[in-house]
Amino acid sequence: MKILGVESSCDETGLAVYDTEAGLLAQAVHTQVAMHAEYGGVVPELASRDHIRRVVPLTRQVLAEAGLALDDLDAVAYTQGPGLAGALLVGAGFANALAAARGVPAIAVHHLEGHLLSPLLAEPRPDFPFVALLVSGGHTQLMRVGGVGGYELLGETVDDAAGEAFDKTAQLLGLGYPGGPALARLAEDGEAYHFKLPRPMLHSGDLDFSFSGLKTAVLTLVKKEGIAQAAHIAAAFQAAVVDVLAGKCLAALKQTGLHRLVVAGGVGANRALRARLDAEAVQHRHRVFYPPLHLCTDNGAMIAFAGGLRLEAGLGPADGRFAVRPRWGLAELSPPA
Ligand code: KG4
Ligand code: ZN
Repeated sequence: MKILGVESSCDETGLAVYDTEAGLLAQAVHTQVAMHAEYGGVVPELASRDHIRRVVPLTRQVLAEAGLALDDLDAVAYTQGPGLAGALLVGAGFANALAAARGVPAIAVHHLEGHLLSPLLAEPRPDFPFVALLVSGGHTQLMRVGGVGGYELLGETVDDAAGEAFDKTAQLLGLGYPGGPALARLAEDGEAYHFKLPRPMLHSGDLDFSFSGLKTAVLTLVKKEGIAQAAHIAAAFQAAVVDVLAGKCLAALKQTGLHRLVVAGGVGANRALRARLDAEAVQHRHRVFYPPLHLCTDNGAMIAFAGGLRLEAGLGPADGRFAVRPRWGLAELSPPA
């Protein structure tokens, strides 16, 4: 089956064609980062308008790259939520219209399910069940994944998401928006233990996270030490986040008795986090799985892929109403009967 995937939940328009037999045939992403940068964050109305401009040209592009025509598509998968309502509506409207016109199913996909299953696009593929750490700009969650559609929330952030903490700290250090990757680069020039920052909730005894206090601690540090110490501050911040994320992952593996960890979402691209998790995995005989680096941030490939798995598991298509779900918990998805 050949599935077109449409992602438009935030500030990236992602299109892709996934073939359930041959794998990923083509994918393209247009990022609006430069457009939103001068506002210091995503402007929802601008995001929606840009998705409208990009979705058709990007569809043509991926179909051409895959050597396919619209007639060759067996289904259209799209991000139904969570995300920005207007942005989601662009993808949902486009995908449902295209599916209806071609007489193929439209499959509604949960954005986080896309991230969560994206490590299955790389080799070796993790077997179910596994523990998944979802770390993006909007979410920080630990899930137990029993299979496609079977997600149990183990813990999540009580305030800021990890990516949000990276972005806000980067802004404090004058690195612009979104600052996660820039902060990670700056941290490489700093000494992680030059300054000591707190490890919020590391020993809270549960699998929840908190990052807003860390941001405040960085603000205090910046005021005291000045921006000249930015590299050391970035390194100290990154080390604190990595300590907390890695500590909670190990606790989740212990609690569930599982040995497979999947890391997904934009922050999953962080090299310090990967190095730490890989080292811990060797020591504790766990295995860690990541999506391909270029599929860590938002993209259409993960949506096409998740859509294909849902269809194969008998979980699609969408019910014909194309209501979007800006707020939607992943644990609300029901597993296959
Ligand atoms: O998953 P994603 O593309 O979008 C959301 O659904 O949120 O994640 C974007 C987030 C941003 O906060 C960005 O700063 C962060 O991921 N990010 C990183 C890195 N690359 C992206 N954070 C730390 N280190 C990185 N290398
Ligand atoms: Zn995302």
